[in-house]
Amino acid sequence: MGAKLPLEEVSTGQVRETTFWTNAVEGSPFRFRATHLDGRRAPKVVLCDDPGVRPGVPCTVRIKAIRKPNRDDRGAIEVELVRVLDFALEGVWLDPVVSRKLQVLLESGLNILLDGPQGCGKTTLAKSIATTLAMEFVLFNCGAVIEASDFLATVQVRASESGHPVTDFVKTEILTALEEADASPRRRYLVFLDELNRCPESARNALMPALDATRRLFDPIENRFRAIPDNVQFVAAVNRGNEFSGTFAIDPAQLDRFAPVQMDYPPPPEEVKLLTKRHPGMSAALIELIVKVAARVREQPEVGGTLSVRATEEACIYLDHPLFEEDQRNALPEILKSSFCGRLPGKWSDTASDAGAAWATITAVLKEDAR
Ligand SMILES: Nc1ncnc2c1ncn2[C@@H]1O[C@H](COP(=O)(O)OP(=O)(O)OP(=O)(O)O)[C@@H](O)[C@H]1O
Ligand SMILES: [Mg+2]
Repeated sequence: MGAKLPLEEVSTGQVRETTFWTNAVEGSPFRFRATHLDGRRAPKVVLCDDPGVRPGVPCTVRIKAIRKPNRDDRGAIEVELVRVLDFALEGVWLDPVVSRKLQVLLESGLNILLDGPQGCGKTTLAKSIATTLAMEFVLFNCGAVIEASDFLATVQVRASESGHPVTDFVKTEILTALEEADASPRRRYLVFLDELNRCPESARNALMPALDATRRLFDPIENRFRAIPDNVQFVAAVNRGNEFSGTFAIDPAQLDRFAPVQMDYPPPPEEVKLLTKRHPGMSAALIELIVKVAARVREQPEVGGTLSVRATEEACIYLDHPLFEEDQRNALPEILKSSFCGRLPGKWSDTASDAGAAWATITAVLKEDAR
């Protein structure tokens, strides 16, 4: 960060770059505050109340007013938002076009549906969005939902003091988040509905009013509809699994309430970068070979959507361990047999099965590499 920016250099109408954070000052009419302009310390606190501001994401602003210019210890620079700049997501690779689409959707507050094969980074991405945008991350696994009311509360049976069974409603993470969001309108909540396609259709239907203009959900504890506050954004993830036997069963009316964003496995050079960062002690050639094998296995239509980044990461975890360090090349085939073939239907020794087809690819790529 550069030296302090003199007040004489700041004037109304100028456009400058800054990054806001939530303004914690009680009672202030400005939701966002920043301390720097164009990378230099601002002569006064920079304040903005534009709802389009994303905390933690750089933006350009136009200077509207300078309050109390003659006081060193008081006053403020009031600005209006011009444009939110590109945001960089920590620790996750994202296709640049998908990244821009996401930014637009997040700015407009639309519900987002991340659609991509198993282990392509949907959960990692949702968490990273929340961290980058300084939002509270609320993970809810829809796979455990059986009935509509399970989104907000679950019924637990316990023994009372007299030994009789009594039932209690236990709030889910979603209900707790909605209550918190109501109480803290300045904090923003990202509710991540993971594995949305895994819950029964009837339960998913009950979620629909939360996702359209009605923005409300039935609260089984209070026995009334509860409004979804504006500071709550929904991001859901679905997993199509294998393209050819996919269990993606969300009906069109449900789908229509989301802006779908397609994701895929990182391209091999990006997967190599991810793994190298996590296993800096491993040889680049070995990581490249593991990723090359995975890419070739993923090309096979029957296993296309099931060999995740978790599989390549697992192979690296084995080989990076002192127990395998001495003998990495010899151990590689056995490790790929369990980490890759073990994730697929069938047995590695049965050439007619998916696991067997993957094993044939693994041995072919390793043989090519040994030449
Ligand atoms: N694009 C990516 N960028 C960074 N890491 C990734 C990416 N894709 C996968 N990974 C890594 O792979 C592992 C699995 O990722 P994650 O759990 O986010 O996948 P997912 O798409 O949510 O999987 P599932 O469909 O099984 O829920 C994590 O260790 C994650 O860090
Ligand atoms: Mg996930």
